[in-house]
Amino acid sequence: MKGLVLSGGYGTRLRPLTHTGPKQLIPIANKPNILYCIEDLRDAGITDIGIILGNVMPEKVQEFLGDGSKFGVRFTYIVQGEPKGIAHAVNCAKDFMGDDPFIVYLGDNLLKNGIGAIPKKMTDEKADCVISLMPVKEPQRYGIAELSPDGKNVVRCVEKPKEPKSNLAVIGVYAFNSSFFKVYPKLKPSWRNEMEITDAISLLIDSGYKVAPHHVVGWWKDTGKPEDILEANHLILDSIQPSNAGKVEEGATVMGRVKIGAGTVIMASSVVRGPAIIGENCRIGPKAYIGPYTAVGDSCQISHAEIDDSIIMDESVVEVEHKLVRTMVGKGSKILSSAGLIPKGERLVVGENTTLYL
Ligand code: G1P
Repeated sequence: MKGLVLSGGYGTRLRPLTHTGPKQLIPIANKPNILYCIEDLRDAGITDIGIILGNVMPEKVQEFLGDGSKFGVRFTYIVQGEPKGIAHAVNCAKDFMGDDPFIVYLGDNLLKNGIGAIPKKMTDEKADCVISLMPVKEPQRYGIAELSPDGKNVVRCVEKPKEPKSNLAVIGVYAFNSSFFKVYPKLKPSWRNEMEITDAISLLIDSGYKVAPHHVVGWWKDTGKPEDILEANHLILDSIQPSNAGKVEEGATVMGRVKIGAGTVIMASSVVRGPAIIGENCRIGPKAYIGPYTAVGDSCQISHAEIDDSIIMDESVVEVEHKLVRTMVGKGSKILSSAGLIPKGERLVVGENTTLYL
């Protein structure tokens, strides 16, 4: 079985963070979303993995992932370019897949319990496609599946239905065999002008192929919006294992489950309360408070500030007597004190589509 990870799309709802890189590289508990997907595939025994590249700085994805050897897998890069929908992205991998069955994983989806059960389901059910399902509160926002009365087969999938027939969302992990490529030429673009994966699944069903449901256990997150990323950060940090490769000075307090990277110093008079993660080569202090569900990337400097439930990305500086909550700070940003500056007042360089609460 092969794997396919999608890293395309514009990530419009995550601007300005996606002005400088694709959304799949945004760190969640200090690890890019796409890496969780790759680890899930590898842990399911899938090491031959295609990576679909979009047109938001695809070179950054390649630079980060390399040939796959450092993750114990092998990557083949496939250019989708213009995003024309998930089904279109999958069809771009036709030559790479050949006759092999494969798992498609959307690079902005995150699952607590991995995907190990899906290849087995494909074989046990002799299915041509397995889709992963999860009940959701707002079915109008997702692809929604209808099941047969015995619950064993999927009978229809509808993308973002106005009047949903169920609350079972089709989440971003799917298994297919080569029947996908047989039906794809018959697929038509949707109302949003995309080649929808849900329409491709309905087409498989209408063409007589077997599509089986897989009910996902544990949490699932689609990290398309800032609040989803903070929520995913929270969920991952909930099960973080504590470790300390850095230095906690005398007079500093580290409580709860905290992971501290090499070269990082937690200075006296600072407090870190887990669950939290702090990357490598950071200076935390003096007088810093890092609260629960916060991820601080590598090479950050934080002093005098209180930070809760937030993501501070690599090489950022927060040196101001202020409390930040549910905040995302992009790589290399600086949040500094305006005390002593003339004229008085906030000084901001704000990227497109940014939201500030002052
Ligand atoms: C896409 C799929 C949808 C699926 C969702 C899961 O939606 O089209 O069927 O439920 O991913 O994350 P989109 O992110 O394009 O709105």
